[in-house]
Amino acid sequence: MRPFDGRRVLLVVSGGIAAYKSAFLCRRLLEAGASIDVLLTESAARFVGRVTFEGILGHPVHTDLWTSPMAHLELGKRADVIVVAPATADLIWRLATGAASDLATTTVLAAPCPVIVCPAMNTRMWEHPATRTNVDRLRQFGYAVVGPDEGDLAEGETGPGRLVEPDAIVASVGRALERRDGFRGLKVVTTAGPTRTPLDPVRYLSNRSSGRMGYALAAAAWRRGGDVTLISGPGSASRPIGPRVLEVETAPEMLAALERELGDAHVLLMAAAVGDFETDPSDEKIKKGDELELRLRGGPDLLLETKTLRSERGIFTLGFALESEDALARGREKLERKGMQLVAINSASEPDAGMEVSTNRVVLVDESGATDELPLARKEAIADQLLDRIEASLGRS
Ligand SMILES: Cc1cc2nc3c(=O)[nH]c(=O)nc-3n(C[C@H](O)[C@H](O)[C@H](O)COP(=O)(O)O)c2cc1C
Repeated sequence: MRPFDGRRVLLVVSGGIAAYKSAFLCRRLLEAGASIDVLLTESAARFVGRVTFEGILGHPVHTDLWTSPMAHLELGKRADVIVVAPATADLIWRLATGAASDLATTTVLAAPCPVIVCPAMNTRMWEHPATRTNVDRLRQFGYAVVGPDEGDLAEGETGPGRLVEPDAIVASVGRALERRDGFRGLKVVTTAGPTRTPLDPVRYLSNRSSGRMGYALAAAAWRRGGDVTLISGPGSASRPIGPRVLEVETAPEMLAALERELGDAHVLLMAAAVGDFETDPSDEKIKKGDELELRLRGGPDLLLETKTLRSERGIFTLGFALESEDALARGREKLERKGMQLVAINSASEPDAGMEVSTNRVVLVDESGATDELPLARKEAIADQLLDRIEASLGRS
C-alpha cells in the first residue's frame, strides 16, 4: 500500500521558470499512489509543454476554462487536495483577491478541499510588500504556503524565491491528506538517533542507532497536525521533512536542547539512544600505539533530569526501553521511576527489531500496568500505532 493510494491530487502549474520541476513533482506524486489531474495556466503551457505532463500522466491536462462547461467546478470538487506549484506572483495576487478569471483561479475559488501554494519567483518579487500582503491573505484563507527556499535562482541571483524541492511538497501533501489530526495545536518534542561521547578531537564512543524510529514518530506527529521539534543526534537515516530539526552531538547537548524545548511542550517522544557514559576527552589526538585506559562515568539520564519539569507541566511522555533480558519488568520499573505515561519496550537482541533496522516489534506498557504487543512492522507503521495510542490517552482520537 502506497501512502496516497486512492487519493486525488490536482496539480496547478503556473508560468514561472520552475514549472519544469512540476513534472518531477507529478512523477513523485504518482509514485506515492495519487491519482492526478494537472491544470496548466496559459503561461505555464509556454514554459512546459502539455505533452510532457500528458506523457507522465497518460491522460490530458486542463488549461482552458471554455472547453468543458463544468471543468471549473469538477476539477476542484473531485480533488482531495490542490497543490499550486510553482505559484507565480501573479497567480498568488489573483488567488488573494478572489479572482475567477481563468481555469486555475476559478477552480481554486470553488474548491472545497485543502490548498497548498508553493511560491517561486525572483527575490525582489517575493520580498515586495504587495506579494507579502497577498501571501498573508492566502494564509488567512487557510491555505498552506510552503517555501520558497533560499538559494540560486534561474537568472543568476541568489536569495529566497526558489521553489521548494518536490520531496518537501510531497510531505506537505501527506500532511494535507492525513485524516487523523489529533496533534493539531500541540507542541511535540521528539528525540532521535545516537549521541557521541568524545574521546579526543577525532574519536568518540557511540551506538548503532540510525534515528529511524524517532524520525518516523516526528514525521507522523507532524502529518497529524503537530508543531514538531525533532532533537536529533548524528543518526544515519534521512531527517524527516516538516518537523523543525535541531542537530546535537552529545548527551549534554541533547539535554540542554530538551530543557529549552520542553517549556511549552505538550508531548515528548523519547526515541534517542542517549549514551550512558561520559569521559573527559583528551585535548590532543590519542597516539596510535599508546596503551589506552578509558575511565567512564555515568552520563545524564534525560528522562530523570526532566522528570520534575514534565510532571509540573503535564507533558505526556512516551519513552523507549531497549532491553535484552527481563524486558517487561525492567520496562515497568523505568516507566514509574522516570515518570513516563507510556513505555515502548523493544529488544536489543532480535535481528529485525530495535537499532539499525527498518522494522520494529514493541511491547507497550502504560501507567495502569496494562501491556499491549505491537507485532513486527515497519517503523513508520509502529509510529502510527504509538501515536494512535497517545491520541486515545489524550482524549483526542
Ligand atoms: C522568462 C520568464 C520567467 C518568469 N519567471 C517567473 C517566476 O519565476 N515567477 C513568477 O512569479 N513570475 C515569472 N514570470 C512572469 C509570469 O510568467 C507572468 O506574471 C505570467 O502572467 C504568470 O501567469 P500565470 O500566473 O497565469 O501562470 C516569468 C516570465 C517570463 C517571461
